[in-house]
This record gives sequence, structure tokens and C-alpha cells, in this order.
Amino acid sequence: MYKIVEKDQIAPNTHLVTVEAPLVVHRARPGQFVIVMVDERSERIPYTLSGWNKEDGTITFVFNEVGRSTRKLVDCREGDSIYSVVGPLGVPLETGKVGTVVCAGGCYGIGAIVPAARAFREAGNRVISIIEARTAYLLYMEKENEDACDELIVATGDGSRGMKGFAPEAIRMLLERGEQIDEVVAMGCTFMAKTVSDATRDKQIKTIVSLSPIMVDGTGMCGCCRLDVGGETKFACVDGPFFDGHKVDWGVLSARGAAYFKQERDSIEYSYAGVRR
Ligand code: FES
Repeated sequence: MYKIVEKDQIAPNTHLVTVEAPLVVHRARPGQFVIVMVDERSERIPYTLSGWNKEDGTITFVFNEVGRSTRKLVDCREGDSIYSVVGPLGVPLETGKVGTVVCAGGCYGIGAIVPAARAFREAGNRVISIIEARTAYLLYMEKENEDACDELIVATGDGSRGMKGFAPEAIRMLLERGEQIDEVVAMGCTFMAKTVSDATRDKQIKTIVSLSPIMVDGTGMCGCCRLDVGGETKFACVDGPFFDGHKVDWGVLSARGAAYFKQERDSIEYSYAGVRR
């Protein structure tokens, strides 16, 4: 069992959880994820690490409540224990020296991009981080992002904080001001990863996106997380989660991600009705 030592709603529908998982901490690298089961009947849900602490053996991740299993985690309290935490999983992000790197985070990625930005900076890169949200009150971990990069750009869709727009608009703004960008890393929802990739395609800027399709085992056995990259079938859990955003078949990825919307909705209705499945 894995004890929850901190749990906080850091923005509406956005939750931060810190869990004791010393064996995960031991090998954790930027961009990796864990698969969590809240109890023995839960789905296995992947969460990208936002941080880890070698001294107290804890990992931290941020998530949005989107269905029955994430709701189970929302319902946990500090001091409760989680049934299973498996990881770290996935190939770590390559954070060598490339020059100027833009680290863009949206949604859960506002937290998950922090270790990536820090690692790029420690490798000697100039790091410009972008965090995006629809509106100001959905932003979080601004200070952590600011500390991890050389320049932080905050973007909100309604312009209530920082520049008006999202990560793609921020990247276009950087290009217009003459910034020489050598690599872009995007962590967030599928839509955000796609639009960031679209924004850099013409300029042929290397764009690495973190993808999180539906997963089950997280070790390459079930095939659930497969996606199409450059005409080849890849498994996000063992070949990813990072892929070349200019080669991803976004149509296939989006369609597969939406495959269980009805079952997800039914599952929430059952849980309201007290039906255990
Ligand atoms: Fe099963 Fe990736 S989650 S193959």
C-alpha cells in the first residue's frame, strides 16, 4: 500500500497528490509516469510525475477528475493508502544540450513540465517555459515553473492573466520576436499537443509531445495504448510517452481516446446510483 502524504485541490477540478513510493523515486526521470490503482477493483490510470523527493521517498503528480477512477482518487484523504503504484514507466525525456528549448505545459502538464524544464536547464540550455489555461483561476504551480526556467510565459485563453491565447500563440509570439528555438516539448492534452505541433511544423522546429492514450498494463503487453507515428505502430507506454509531434497521426489518436466515452459516462451514472461494477 502507498500512503498519501499530501492531497490538495490546486485549481478547480485539478488535484495534486503526493504519495510515498520510495522504489519509484529511486529511478524517476523527467517525463516518466506511474500507473495507479486506488483499490483492487480500480482501473489502472497513468499519471505523469510532476516531482519526486529522494529524501522522503515521495512522488507527486497532478490530475484532473475525468471519470469514475479519478473520482475515487479525489475522494481519498491525506493518510489514506492507495492499493498500487507501478513505475516509473515510459522512456524518460531526452534532456541533453540543444540550445534554446521551449517547454509548454497545459492541464496536468503545467505540473509535469517542471522536472523537464529543470533538467533542460541543468544541461545548459536556455529554457523558455509556457503554461497555458483557459482562464487565470485554472493556473497553478506558477512559482515552481518560474524557478525551473529562464523565462516564463503565462498564457490564458481569455487574457485574464499573461498573454491572451494558448501555447501555440505564445510560440508564434516567440518566433516573431526573433527567438531561435531549437526544440519544443509539449505536455498536456491531445489537443494541446497537436496545436503546438501545428505551430512549429512550418519552421521545422523539433517538437516532442508527451502522449497519454488509454493504457492498461503500461508494459507493452495489452496493445491498448497503440498509436500511429510516421506510419509505424507504436505503444505509448514503452516506446513513449514522447513522440515527434510532426509524425503523429492525430486523427487515430483522438478517435481511440474517445472510444469509451459512453462507458465512462455510464460508469459515473452507476456510481451515483450506488451500483458497483
Ligand atoms: Fe498496454 Fe501500452 S498500456 S501496451
